[in-house]
Amino acid sequence: MRCERCGSAGVRPHPSHPAPWRHEPSICRLRRGGSRRPLDNAGATHVPAKMRQGLFSEAPGRQIEALQMQAEALSPTYLVKLTRSMTVTAPRSTGADPTLATSLRHRLRDETRPAHEALDGCFVGMDDPAGRATYERFLVMNHACHWRLEPMLEQSELATFLPEIAARARRGALSEDLAAMRLTPLEPLAFALPPDLPHAIGAAYVLEGSRLGGRFIHRRFKQLRLSEVWTGLSQRFLALGEEPDFFRAFMTRIDSLTMSPTQSNACVEAAASVFGYFTRTADAVRARDEGVAT
Ligand code: HEM
Repeated sequence: MRCERCGSAGVRPHPSHPAPWRHEPSICRLRRGGSRRPLDNAGATHVPAKMRQGLFSEAPGRQIEALQMQAEALSPTYLVKLTRSMTVTAPRSTGADPTLATSLRHRLRDETRPAHEALDGCFVGMDDPAGRATYERFLVMNHACHWRLEPMLEQSELATFLPEIAARARRGALSEDLAAMRLTPLEPLAFALPPDLPHAIGAAYVLEGSRLGGRFIHRRFKQLRLSEVWTGLSQRFLALGEEPDFFRAFMTRIDSLTMSPTQSNACVEAAASVFGYFTRTADAVRARDEGVAT
């Protein structure tokens, strides 16, 4: 299968998109000029040399910040592939051995990567002047999922571990976005989550992490001046991704927990299951909007 924009071979279609999957223009542009070797610190050959230098000459702990600073010119879809394919070496700890907790943070990112990529595949082309309908589906999906998940988290053991969780809720902002853009909400699909702390942390990881992607999308919209192109564009939900970075603090708190292997597994399984829930909801929104029975 080939990309319909640049002709690159080996494009993997997303299950919910029978048509050939479209690369982001920036990916196509970059790939035309370089090989498709996987990214790592030694050979990121499909990233322009200037950017590579900036990215990988930093101390490991600062590579992500360097990426964020230089990423303005790239699309969010490309960025998510780039950041997930980087191997960032964590600084050596000088304190107690944090092996279990550190591996939980890494497990969350690494083991949910396929589920995250499947979800991203539902929104290819959103950061494009022609992508308004895709952004609308993105909002409706998030609205349904946040209205289902946030109250569950607020009533779980997470509320004791992280009392600020209720103040982190974004479902109100999503309701405002839908009202401002005259979008019809989707009834949230069924979803069950055990209320214990490991499951709740896994779910909260997905919700809090999604702010990072939202931040990139928000900046990309600004860069493309989409508010001048899309009449009545509302971005309250995306704008909340611009708040001071709570995600790292949350990850640090996870690192402070000692979990048994069973609890760690429950946490990672919950995160993967929440990603799957978002993807099922995205498919349901698409089916509704296209008038297809599910
Ligand atoms: C088209 C939509 C999306 C794009 C383009 C996108 C993009 C990104 C990017 C670029 C990052 C890395 C940011 C950084 O490291 O600073 C990221 C992280 C993350 N995103 Fe997304 N995202 C999207 C949708 C979502 C959604 C809907 C969810 C969850 C429901 C989500 C969950 C996460 C999580 C959990 C992380 C943190 C990964 C980690 O470092 O452990 N994303 N996303």
